[in-house]
Formats: sequence, C-alpha cells, structure tokens
Amino acid sequence: MTSKLIAGNWKMNGSLAANAALLQTILSGVRQPACAVAVCVPAPYLAQCQALLSETSVELGAQDVSAHEAGAYTGEVSALMLRDFGVRYAIVGHSERRQYHGETDLVVAEKAQRALATGITPIVCVGETLAQRDAGLTEEVVKRQLAAVIHLNGHCISEIVVAYEPVWAIGTGKTATPEQAQAVHAVLRAQLQAASTQAGRIRILYGGSMNAANAASLLAQPDIDGGLIGGASLKATDFLSIINAAS
Ligand code: G3P
Repeated sequence: MTSKLIAGNWKMNGSLAANAALLQTILSGVRQPACAVAVCVPAPYLAQCQALLSETSVELGAQDVSAHEAGAYTGEVSALMLRDFGVRYAIVGHSERRQYHGETDLVVAEKAQRALATGITPIVCVGETLAQRDAGLTEEVVKRQLAAVIHLNGHCISEIVVAYEPVWAIGTGKTATPEQAQAVHAVLRAQLQAASTQAGRIRILYGGSMNAANAASLLAQPDIDGGLIGGASLKATDFLSIINAAS
C-alpha cells in the first residue's frame, strides 16, 4: 500500500517571517517521516517555501491552479508557473473555492486535467454541506463531484489524490467520526475501483478539523490514506503530531 500523505493547507495565512519560523520547526521535527508530507502555501510564498523546502522530505503544494494553460486570465496562476517553483501537488475544488468562487464540478475537473497534464498531482476535494448530509444526500454529492473528475481524466485517474472534506467539519472543530469518514471513503474507493484497476493506490485523504487528538483514530481507518490539514497545519507541534500519527 502507498504510504499515507499528510498535506497542510495554509489557506490565506502566513507571512515571510511566520512561514520561515513554521517551516524551520516542522523541518527540525520531521527528519525521515514514514509518510509523505506536503505544505500547500499561498501563491506569493511559493519561491520562499521552495527555497526553504529544498533538499528536504517535505513537498511543496499550491492551493489552486488555473484550468487554462496561459493568457488573459487576470489573477490566475497556471500549472506551468507552479512547476517553475517545483510544486508537486495542487488542491483543486476546495469547498471554499466552490462556495466563494463558484467553481463547478466541470471547472474542478478541468483544473485537475491541467495539473495532470503538467506533471502536478491534483488533490481533488469533495464533500457535502450539513444540509446535504441531513437530507441524506452525502453519497450522491461526493459521487457526483468525483464522477466529473473521473469522466474527464479517466485515463490517468490513478495519478490523482482525493480529499473528502465534509464542509460542516471544515474549520468548525466538529470532526467527522472515524466511522462517518470511513463510510464515505469506502464509497469513494468503490467509485474509483470501478474506474481504475489502480484504485487501491489512489490516496483518499480526510480533511475537516483533523488534529493531534483525533488523527490516530481517523488514520487507522482502512480507506483513510492521510489528511488534508487546515488550522492544525499552522501549528508546528500539532502538524508534527499528525505526521507522527500517520507514520
Ligand atoms: O483543506 C483542509 C481544510 O479545509 C481543513 O481545515 O481547519 O478544518 O483542518 P481544518
């Protein structure tokens, strides 16, 4: 089985000074982890973090990528630009971008396609709102979101990472129970198995208030292959605890 992946999503947080201090503490504690580790940083800090992560075991990630190759797309960042900074992963379809930027399932699939075409691994986020869960629509929602990506990228679907992020657990401290998360991960795994013989290799991460206290119980689940970590990734000791739980 592929090793677990712990990816930090710093969201719109950081500064040159704070980034240097955070990464110095993380790097001093991570040495040779038994899991894969990445930090997905705001675009203005890609150069700084590329330099700080150079020759280390921590990979660099981005929080978004344009669906377009290049051109008149003001404010967007292309996959080729991300490659200039050695970016390994790009989050696509985070619920905050779906909510605040109107990103549709098709746009998310196109972003994933652009990342794959450029040698960047997309971390494809899927997840339901509390209203959808309460209405019994969780499976329908996450399968629809993932189906769009499979439809457009079926020939290289084994190269993606999936992140199940229940919207109601993001930033709320209301983490899904291990059983709740595993149930949805199993649905996603079955959907991937129907699309690829390599489904067992595709990492399915959990995201949504994963922290030092609950990481071990979540990561012990058979179809939880890592975590996409928001708030806890901004605290070195918490992030290191989660990495240790995944190792
Ligand atoms: O992308 C990860 C993020 O959405 C989870 O945030 O703060 O609940 O760990 P948080």
